[in-house]
Amino acid sequence: MLCTPPPPQPPLQSSRRPRPLPLRAAPRCSKPNDAEPSPSPPSTAAAGGVRRQVLSPEGRAKLDPRPDRDFYALPRLVTHVDDGFIATLTGLYRERLRAGWDVLDLMSSWVSHLPPEVRFRRVVGHGLNAQELARNPRLDLFFVKDLNKEQRLELESGTFDAVLCTVSVQYLQSPEKVFAEIFRVLKPGGVCIVSFSNRMFYEKAISAWRDGTAYSRVQLVTQYFQCVEGFTQPEVIRKLPSAGGSPSSPLDAVMRLFGVAGSDPFYAVISYRNFKPM
Ligand SMILES: C[S@@+](CC[C@H](N)C(=O)[O-])C[C@H]1O[C@@H](n2cnc3c(N)ncnc32)[C@H](O)[C@@H]1O
Repeated sequence: MLCTPPPPQPPLQSSRRPRPLPLRAAPRCSKPNDAEPSPSPPSTAAAGGVRRQVLSPEGRAKLDPRPDRDFYALPRLVTHVDDGFIATLTGLYRERLRAGWDVLDLMSSWVSHLPPEVRFRRVVGHGLNAQELARNPRLDLFFVKDLNKEQRLELESGTFDAVLCTVSVQYLQSPEKVFAEIFRVLKPGGVCIVSFSNRMFYEKAISAWRDGTAYSRVQLVTQYFQCVEGFTQPEVIRKLPSAGGSPSSPLDAVMRLFGVAGSDPFYAVISYRNFKPM
């Protein structure tokens, strides 16, 4: 393992009130051959280590190979899923997150879907577009980083009670390393909630996701957790639009007439950082 001093700190930007940076760069550590699958067998990997690669090189490919930052250069102040999905997600956060927590919203934008009545100690946002993040009313701080270029989060280890990733996991080309970073920044016992639906920017989603099914996508995210030593067995929550029932709006009725479901299916995969290595 090679360890070098921390890299120059990219500025963390505060969305509302400038304040001294509470976060400092963790030492940068990398294996001599970081691109290769970890040679360690599962039983000997240290907590937080990547036990195996989930994706093949083809599975990581995108149709649009241009840098992701170019794709997200212009702010998109839209919601990427429907109200039913967002209500389910906010309800899940209400159940699983506690007031006073430190929360990291990875791959965020101008909305975080957190319960409005819950006050967290700190919500740090991350994404690719500074203008979107600056508009997010729940963020205390944010930083911009392309996780397909470099996965290291310049955040201290063991400092977050929760890490959230909403309708974005399909864009990660090195999810094994990103989930190892999520593990690192979580406190022991901290939770990670990854939620998604069936929508995507098709040309920017990895092929393993694009070419998959709802079932295989849940399996994929489950394996992203399982490939990092020390996460608990992932829990899956599904809320699918009911086949029957009455349409909630005229548009819904028309969409059903054409065989298009009126609401977005909801999937969440949840795992905790174990208190002790298993
Ligand atoms: C569909 S939006 C979801 C935004 C937000 N989580 C939400 O719930 O509305 C996808 C987000 O993924 C993030 N993203 C996509 N590619 C990324 C990359 N290579 N590195 C970091 N973030 C990325 C962008 O910030 C973008 O806002």
